[in-house]
Amino acid sequence: MRRFVIAATLALVATGATVAVAQNADAIKQRREAMRAIARAGAEPFKMTKGEAPFNLAAVQNVMKAIEENAPKFKAAFPDNAKTGATDATAKVWESRADFNAIIDKWVVDAKAAAIAIKDEASFKAEYPKMAQTCGSCHGNRGGYSPGLGDSFKKMQDPL
Ligand code: HEC
Repeated sequence: MRRFVIAATLALVATGATVAVAQNADAIKQRREAMRAIARAGAEPFKMTKGEAPFNLAAVQNVMKAIEENAPKFKAAFPDNAKTGATDATAKVWESRADFNAIIDKWVVDAKAAAIAIKDEASFKAEYPKMAQTCGSCHGNRGGYSPGLGDSFKKMQDPL
């Protein structure tokens, strides 16, 4: 009987470990997918800011919608068991969670405001940078929650 209990306990511990690893990988995948959806939708407006693509209101509205939909999913995908693995998120996410969450909440508010305020090329030039500068609040040396944007864009080629 005692041997059975020990074996059963060991089996439970082993199962628990497997579940923890699986959750971990899922959360990392979810947040990377959410960030990718935003980055993909942002590609055309980014070209527009540099004068490399003509103004396109639908593309602007599309990235704002992508932020509204995906930023909350991104925010919810940082459980304590998803700190390591195929991730670029730094330890600062967990150390400064309140600040990290506040950046995301403000980002969503700004994206909603920009979706209303941007109606033409002039309003795009005035309003878009206010939303886009938030990327830098997390990416790179200033934010410290994730690598610089150039390095992060390369990550989009990884299979998830
Ligand atoms: C609240 C902080 C925050 C903001 C704001 C933010 N990012 Fe990120 N981003 C991260 C973190 C953290 C990761 C790393 C996620 C991981 O690897 O687990 C990431 C990952 C990425 C990736 C790589 C995705 C992949 O394939 O792994 C890209 C590209 C990216 N971000 C682009 C952007 C762009 C563009 C913006 C602005 C429109 C932006 N990010 C705004 C925190 C942020």
